[in-house]
Amino acid sequence: MGENKSKTLIKETNKNANISAKWRNLLKDIQTVFPSPWSEEGEDQIFENMFLNAIGQLNKLKHPRLYHEQKAWQGYLGDPALPDYSKCRDVKFEEHMKPLDDIIKDLVGFFNGMPNWNHPQTMCNVVPPPNTASIIGSTLCNVFSPNILEGEYSWNIAKTEIESGAMLSQLIGWDPHKSGGIYTFGGTGCYFYAIKLALTRVLGKETRFTGIREDAQILVSREGHFIKQNCSDWIGLGMNNVREISVDEHNRIDINALKEVMEECKKEGKPIAMIVCTMGTTDAFAIDPIGKIRELIDNYENAKGYPKPLLYADAVIGWSWLSFRNYDFNKNPLQFSKKAIKILEHNFNQIKPLHHADAIGIDFHKTGWAPYNCSFFIVKDYNNLDEKLSRPMPAYLQDRTPYNPFKFTLETSRTGAYSMAGWATLKLFGQEGYQVMLGRIIEVSIFFRQLLEKDENLVCVNPDNYGFVTLFRVYPKHINAKEQFEKELNDPKYREELKAYNLLQQRIANKLFSMLRDRKQKLEGWENPPYTSFTSGYRPPKYAPNEKDNHYLIYALKAFPMSPNSNEISMQIVRNYVLKARDLVIEELIKENKLREKDKFDDIKTGVKETTIKNWWGENEYIPLKYLIPSKNISIEETLKTNPFCAHLNDNQLKTIIDNGKIESINAGSIICNEGDIADKVYLILSGKVKVYKNDIDGNEKELATLEKGNMFGEMALFDKGFRSASVKCIEPSQLMIFEGDKFLELLLG
Ligand SMILES: Cc1ncc(COP(=O)(O)O)c(C=O)c1O
Repeated sequence: MGENKSKTLIKETNKNANISAKWRNLLKDIQTVFPSPWSEEGEDQIFENMFLNAIGQLNKLKHPRLYHEQKAWQGYLGDPALPDYSKCRDVKFEEHMKPLDDIIKDLVGFFNGMPNWNHPQTMCNVVPPPNTASIIGSTLCNVFSPNILEGEYSWNIAKTEIESGAMLSQLIGWDPHKSGGIYTFGGTGCYFYAIKLALTRVLGKETRFTGIREDAQILVSREGHFIKQNCSDWIGLGMNNVREISVDEHNRIDINALKEVMEECKKEGKPIAMIVCTMGTTDAFAIDPIGKIRELIDNYENAKGYPKPLLYADAVIGWSWLSFRNYDFNKNPLQFSKKAIKILEHNFNQIKPLHHADAIGIDFHKTGWAPYNCSFFIVKDYNNLDEKLSRPMPAYLQDRTPYNPFKFTLETSRTGAYSMAGWATLKLFGQEGYQVMLGRIIEVSIFFRQLLEKDENLVCVNPDNYGFVTLFRVYPKHINAKEQFEKELNDPKYREELKAYNLLQQRIANKLFSMLRDRKQKLEGWENPPYTSFTSGYRPPKYAPNEKDNHYLIYALKAFPMSPNSNEISMQIVRNYVLKARDLVIEELIKENKLREKDKFDDIKTGVKETTIKNWWGENEYIPLKYLIPSKNISIEETLKTNPFCAHLNDNQLKTIIDNGKIESINAGSIICNEGDIADKVYLILSGKVKVYKNDIDGNEKELATLEKGNMFGEMALFDKGFRSASVKCIEPSQLMIFEGDKFLELLLG
């Protein structure tokens, strides 16, 4: 650089040093929107007040606790309406700064309508309200931003991670000096770590350089969480390398099926990288028999001489039952009810063998009552994790403290907020706090299940399984729910009824949600439904364990009393609202059905769509009326009278027609007439069902209609003796009344 040029630069710099430059003034403003770096009473007070102010504004979105005022029962903050996302993309990145107070107001505003997880009537999933210690622990981290990339950037905060590992190890029954782990981004993060460790352990460390070149297998039950797909996909192994194992009637992995699949893998020369034990799921609370799976692995030789598979326990839901490790179930110091203590002991005994795992995923933001994200991935042998996954030190980081997990973690920046929240929760609750939180859920669920038991139209569908949720179904008033569900669960003859009542559950769930959230659907006097939820796949029926068609799985309504404030009254309200929603839905369906009938005869395509109350998320599915109102045992005369051909006949004429008919019982599968046959008879269905179909050129049946009790077919014979335009087959054992076409016509015309 020439001398002249460098002189100009210095001059420039000097010019920039102008202390009254506009940017310097603006910088002063900007400095005020950061917390002060010094302890200064005035400045600190401003920051503290802002915080208080923001929390104060947030708290105002909650509804007042005035029990005579209905709003106390609303399980959301502020206003219930659906958010309008349509304008979000028009928002501009402004040119100038905005006052901090305005930003705080806007920020608080975003919470308008949010579910209030702490509310007693918010019971839609395993979404717990975070406890105060965990809120403060994680929020403090946002003030000084510890990064547990390494000890240098997190200093003492890193202790909360190591100490959490020690506390959790003791709970599991591992040696806290040998085991340990890290906080990560959710149950998904834990699973991701587990797969990485498994692949490295089984296929060898060199795969970290060469990539995965073997179709290593991951074995997990079909009830295992869908992250089996996310994680195998994102890690590059491929979703096809996940093998789903069938489950027993309690949704636990079927050990014999697992054994068979393990042998299959060996025969195919595919090493198993990891077997996942699902230790608690949101709906089914399935807990796999981990001890037996450990035995299988210990006695298994992996294909091609590879090391043994990793045993990963996805215990993100089930882990907190371990807090009963030191509880004396006989003395029962917390005085749980007799029924509850049995259940608590049973749940603890299922989770107790968790120590058989090599690695475990634990979520505090689920059954730990801490904020998102707060998951701990823990391994029995911490040195092995470090040794297997460590990478060389990057040039810009130094080993300035003995704690540097970034060498093996996926994340580079890793907030201390997860760790402070988890640690704070463990310390705050202690074992006893968790015992109370879990014991309360069981006591409340027992009460709710008693309510279900007492009501003829309600049935609990997970009666032997007490986790975080009660799953239940509701039926029309004329139906005994327990008997009906028993048939739907066990008898393939009731497959269509299962489907119809599945749709009813779905509509009731939708109704409750829209009564809660859609101002147009709010019902006077019933403005505050609980925020419950619904599943369209709790389990397959017993006769079809591999059912793939979603319509024929068991649907259920769900209530998760996760809030420490949900109590027996909350459950009573759930029951009352569910029955109310059932009545409203059936009323709506009756109206819809009437319009459908009208459409059929008028051939005017108006009707259903206009009368159906539309939900934000789409239309409800149709449910035939016969499932919703009691079927009258109507006589053949009445059946005939409902038919447009016979509606004009008096009782004598009807009797004559019936005397001329012949009743025949026909087996399911029998063909009544074939396309092309001479059409000389008319049929009235007295019971059962028939299918009307045509064969295409390849001989495949193409269904045109299903007809049932009261329907008539073959009326072609009333006009002339043409040929049948379609074939008809019985699909259920049926009774038909058969008339000769000529005679029938003569009697009709009188
Ligand atoms: C059994 C199980 N594993 C993993 C996950 C995924 O956890 P996260 O949502 O924290 O990533 C869930 C989520 O519900 C789960 O139920």
